[in-house]
Amino acid sequence: MSRSAGTVAVVGGGIIGLSCAWRAASAGFAVTVHDPAPGSGASRVAGGMLAPVTEAVPGEAQALALGTASLRRWPAFAGELAAAGADPCLRTRGTFVVAVDPGDRGELDRLAEQLSRTGRQVEVLSGRQARRAEPSLGPQVCRALSVPGDLSVDNRALLDALLAACRGVGVRFHGERCARLPAADAVVLAAGAHSAALHPALARVIRPVKGEIVRLRSRPGTLAPPSRTVRAIVGGRHSYLVPRDGGGLVLGATQRETGFDTDVTAGGVRELLTDAERVLPAIAEYTLEEVAAGLRPGSPDNLPVIGELEPGVFAATGHHRNGILLAPLTADAVLALLRGEPVPAEAQPATPARLVSRAP
Ligand code: GLY
Repeated sequence: MSRSAGTVAVVGGGIIGLSCAWRAASAGFAVTVHDPAPGSGASRVAGGMLAPVTEAVPGEAQALALGTASLRRWPAFAGELAAAGADPCLRTRGTFVVAVDPGDRGELDRLAEQLSRTGRQVEVLSGRQARRAEPSLGPQVCRALSVPGDLSVDNRALLDALLAACRGVGVRFHGERCARLPAADAVVLAAGAHSAALHPALARVIRPVKGEIVRLRSRPGTLAPPSRTVRAIVGGRHSYLVPRDGGGLVLGATQRETGFDTDVTAGGVRELLTDAERVLPAIAEYTLEEVAAGLRPGSPDNLPVIGELEPGVFAATGHHRNGILLAPLTADAVLALLRGEPVPAEAQPATPARLVSRAP
């Protein structure tokens, strides 16, 4: 029989932890979130792309399937949050993937071919056609793919919305850092890159992958940022430019494996600005509002770890580059686990059981 009562302790108050807590409390569980600074960490340092298709890595078909399944849940998830009181600012204008150099054009063509082969909606545009749709794109942009199905969300508005929604359904927050698992009928480990320290099954499985971002804002007299997400391939390097309401633009993100290091480096910022300026020359005149670094929770196969680690202890971590995208599917899967029901079929590849063979 399905359960919907009992106490649930969620360790970690980022987007994954808060989404799980909100869903569980809405379903009738008595939920606590344990985090010294809920709504911070890697979740605040993000572009907010909900883009399984344009972020897809060749050979990672399961990650694409997981992302696609979660993307389908996003409009309802955002709508429920807005109805609960705070709008996470979902954007539905899709993504442009743009190329700057001839070599990048080849990569774009391969992506277009791969997407149409798998039945995804995609349109190839010349540089001129792309500029007609997005006048801030610069003259070096020589080709673009329009992928209308991708979404984006303002990660900070989302965190505020989740915190408010959690409070609205009675989630209680505890500010202590967890040295051991909290006492509760069920514990959900959702501490992102810090999850490895919380359970032996996650040790040597979850690792920090640093990402730096730059936040800019257009100024009066400058060209406004694009209206949709721009995924750029510049000299073989991948970056993204995600617009925010009010002229904001997030540039992301570097990817470095340097342990628990959240220093922002001059080289990282230079890389992001140099690549972005080739795509959107107007950013040179924008205000530089913030630079920040966060730690993605990497896993050995780039899939998250969602499932039971031992009776009553569940993992919801390892989302790597896709934490925001995968939040709705993860929350549904965790709710199913708490109720003693099977997780949605699309989330099954994320089972911790697959990692047993990799255990040290
Ligand atoms: N999802 C993009 C990133 O992790 O940088």
